[in-house]
Amino acid sequence: MGVVLETVELTKYFGVVKAADGISVRVEEGELVGIIGPNGSGKTTFLNLITGYVRPARGSIWYRGKDITGLSPRVVTRMGIARSFQIPQLYGGLTVLENMLVALAIRAGRSGEFWRPLQEDARLEEAMQTLSEFGLEGAAAQGVSSLAEGERKLLDVALSFALKPRLLLLDEPTSGVSVKDKFEVMDRLVRVLKSSGVTTVFVEHDLDVVMRYAERVLVFQEGRVIADGPPGIVLSDAEVKSAIVGTG
Ligand SMILES: Nc1ncnc2c1ncn2[C@@H]1O[C@H](COP(=O)(O)OP(=O)(O)OP(=O)(O)O)[C@@H](O)[C@H]1O
Ligand SMILES: [Mg+2]
Repeated sequence: MGVVLETVELTKYFGVVKAADGISVRVEEGELVGIIGPNGSGKTTFLNLITGYVRPARGSIWYRGKDITGLSPRVVTRMGIARSFQIPQLYGGLTVLENMLVALAIRAGRSGEFWRPLQEDARLEEAMQTLSEFGLEGAAAQGVSSLAEGERKLLDVALSFALKPRLLLLDEPTSGVSVKDKFEVMDRLVRVLKSSGVTTVFVEHDLDVVMRYAERVLVFQEGRVIADGPPGIVLSDAEVKSAIVGTG
């Protein structure tokens, strides 16, 4: 066990909007942490700060003992932090398998355009293996534009997961997925994540999802963490409840 991620007084305002207002958080190896909070409370900004898409005005970010404050997304990714976005970043014209091959080519340090010659090699096997962990092997030959929303979201996470990160940051892995399918998507995700032991932080709007899957929950409000602890305790807190009213 050790500290994988630590932020110290992370601060970023957009004009007068306090998107991050002194966020100090520590995440231990192997944890599965959920982040919840109203729209605009700074959840995505927090992930953007960690992954170098947004630079903090103040504060610092530590990853496995190294100061990564201000590093570019590319460097941060290479160090072992992968993320998914609120809207899946898939190559629309390609199949599920081809998307996975691109991710593996990128991991190998090649540009995404060079995935084609790699189809023959062992990477094809690894691509299929990763797809099957996420229950997507049957959809391998399908164009991504024809996927159901739940499958799109699973593929998006699978592509980040294929980078073999030590820290995985997921921005709303079930957004856009029907209530009926959400738990199926999360069951699958959490099973893969827990069996690999990858430290994961996920943003989630749905309280039931956070309650069921997060081992620890951080509640964001106006760029601050107003509560941090086990979901059963945090989500029954009166102040937290009133802060997240209207969420979802
Ligand atoms: N690049 C940006 N430029 C200007 N304002 C921004 C930028 N990114 C975020 N903001 C603002 O910062 C605040 C926090 O945004 P953020 O996207 O982090 O919230 P969120 O908690 O992820 O919301 P949601 O639940 O809607 O996804 C919002 O008021 C947003 O409009
Ligand atoms: Mg967001």
